[in-house]
Amino acid sequence: MALVSQFSHYYMIFLLLPVFTVAQTYRNITLGSSLTASNDNSGSSWLSPSAEFAFGFRQIGDQGFLLAIWFDKIPEKTIVWSANRNELVQRGSKVELTADGPLVLRDATGRQIWNTAPGGEVAYGAMLDTGNFVLAGRDSVNLWGSFDMPTDTILPTQTMNQGSRLVARITDSNYSSGRFMFTLQTDGNLLLYTRKYPTEEVNYAYWSTQRSINSGFQVIFNQTGYMYLTARNGSILNEVFSNKASTQDFYQRAIVDSDGVFRQYIYPKSSNSSAGKWSMAWSTLSFIPSNICLRIEGDTGSGACGFNSYCSLGDDRKMCQCPPGYTFIDPEDVMKGCKQNFVPQSCDKASEEMNLFEFREMINTDWPLSDYEYYKAQSEDWCRQVCLSDCFCAAAIFRNGDCWKKKVPLSNGRRDPGVGGKALVKITPLDLQVQVQTRTRIQHWSTFYQHC
Ligand SMILES: *[C@@H]1O[C@H](CO)[C@@H](O)[C@H](O)[C@H]1NC(C)=O
Ligand SMILES: *[C@@H]1O[C@H](CO)[C@@H](O)[C@H](O)[C@H]1NC(C)=O
Ligand SMILES: *[C@@H]1O[C@H](CO)[C@@H](O)[C@H](O)[C@H]1NC(C)=O
Ligand SMILES: *[C@@H]1O[C@H](CO)[C@@H](O)[C@H](O)[C@H]1NC(C)=O
Ligand SMILES: *[C@@H]1O[C@H](CO)[C@@H](O)[C@H](O)[C@H]1NC(C)=O
Repeated sequence: MALVSQFSHYYMIFLLLPVFTVAQTYRNITLGSSLTASNDNSGSSWLSPSAEFAFGFRQIGDQGFLLAIWFDKIPEKTIVWSANRNELVQRGSKVELTADGPLVLRDATGRQIWNTAPGGEVAYGAMLDTGNFVLAGRDSVNLWGSFDMPTDTILPTQTMNQGSRLVARITDSNYSSGRFMFTLQTDGNLLLYTRKYPTEEVNYAYWSTQRSINSGFQVIFNQTGYMYLTARNGSILNEVFSNKASTQDFYQRAIVDSDGVFRQYIYPKSSNSSAGKWSMAWSTLSFIPSNICLRIEGDTGSGACGFNSYCSLGDDRKMCQCPPGYTFIDPEDVMKGCKQNFVPQSCDKASEEMNLFEFREMINTDWPLSDYEYYKAQSEDWCRQVCLSDCFCAAAIFRNGDCWKKKVPLSNGRRDPGVGGKALVKITPLDLQVQVQTRTRIQHWSTFYQHC
C-alpha cells in the first residue's frame, strides 16, 4: 500500500512537472509581485493563458520604457495599451502589485510615475486572453481593468462607456498623446475630433454619428469584429465597423492612428489557416472617415496635415506633403508642417522683386480657408499678376474664372480630384535664390549702416 502511494506520488510529480512550468504563465499574479524594466526585455512581463498578450515593460527606441500590454505572439509585439505614454521610464524602473492593492509604477529612483486606485480590496492581478489586464477582488470581481482606461486602441470584447476616449499618439513611433481623438461623450454623441495640440482641448469634429445625436450609451467592439454604438436600452444605433473577421483566425485591433484615421486591423494567427490569403502583417479591414483630407476643415488649426502642407489619400494611408519650394520642418513629424525654402518677397520692393518669383502649378489643390482676397470673372494671367505683385500673396487659386489670394501659413490643404481648378504656389526658383539671399544680405548691411 505504502509502495503504491509512493509510486503514485513520484508518478504525479513527473506528470505535473511540465504542466507546472506551463502553468506559470497563467497563474494569478499575487500581491507583492513585481516586474523590472531591463534592456533585453527578459523576465519583464506577465503573459495571458494563451500567451497571446503580455503585460510589462517594452523598450521604445533608446528613449526608455513603456509599461504596456502587447500582442506577444507576433514579431511586431504591437502595443495596445500603456500606463505612462507621456512619460517613458528608464532601466531599473519597477511595477509592483502592492500588498494593499494598487498597481504602482516607480522609476529607477523610486519616484511614483503612475498607479491604479481601485476601490475595494484587491486579491490578485491577471493578464486575460482578451488583452485586458485586471485587478480582481477575493470574489473574482474585477476592481480595475486596463480596458476601462484605453489609450489609442480597443480590442474585441472591449466596450467604451460615456466619457471614454481614444487619443492618437503623436507619430507611429512616439506614443505620447497626439492630435486626434475618438470619444463617446457624456452627452451621448460619438465623434472624431482634432485636438489643439499640445493641450487636451478639442478643436474640430470630423466624423460623428449623425443619426443618433445624444442617445449613444456604449461603443461595443464584439468578438466577431463588429463595432457599433448602442442606446441605453441595448438597441444598435450606428455601426462604426461592419466588416467581420473571425477572432479564431485573426488578431484584431482598432486604433486611432497618429494620422487621425480610425482603423480596424487584422493579422492572421497562422499562415496556413483560412486566413492564408492575408499576408502575415497588420492589414486594414475598415476605416473612418472615408476621406480625412476633405473632412477636416476648421477656421483654426492646420487641417488634416500641418500648416503650409497638403493632404492626399494614398492606398489607405493619409499622405502629407509640402508644396514645391517648401520642406518639412521635422520629417519625423510631418504634422509640424512645412517651411518656405526661400526668402519671402519684400513688401517695400514687391514690384521690383516680381522677377525673382514665379509660380508652380498644382492641379486639384486648395487651401480653402486661407484666402484674404477674392476676385470674380478674371483671367488666369490676371490672377497670376495680382498675386505676383502682392508681398502678402503666398499662392493663388484659379478655378472657373475665379481668383483667390492666399496667405501663409496655408491651412486645411488638400489635393483631391473633387477640388478642381489649380493652385499657383509663389516661390523663388533655386537658380534665383542666390540672388535673393545676396539682396537680403545687402539690405541687412544697409540697415546696419543707417543705424550707425
Ligand atoms: C485566481 O485567484 C482566484 C481567487 O483567489 C481563484 O478563484 C482562481 O481560481 C485563481 N485562478 C488561477 C488560474 O489560479
Ligand atoms: C515624443 O514627442 C514629444 C513631444 O514632441 C517629445 O517631448 C518626446 O520627447 C517624444 N518622445 C520620444 C520617445 O521621442
Ligand atoms: C457582433 O455583432 C454583429 C452585428 O450586430 C452580430 O451579427 C454578431 O453576431 C455579433 N457577434 C457576437 C460574437 O456577438
Ligand atoms: C431604444 O432607444 C432608442 C434611442 O433612445 C429608441 O429609438 C428605440 O426606440 C428604443 N428601442 C426600444 C426597443 O425601446
Ligand atoms: C498549421 O500548421 C501547423 C504546423 O505545420 C499545424 O500544427 C497546425 O495545426 C496548422 N494549423 C491549421 C489551422 O491548419
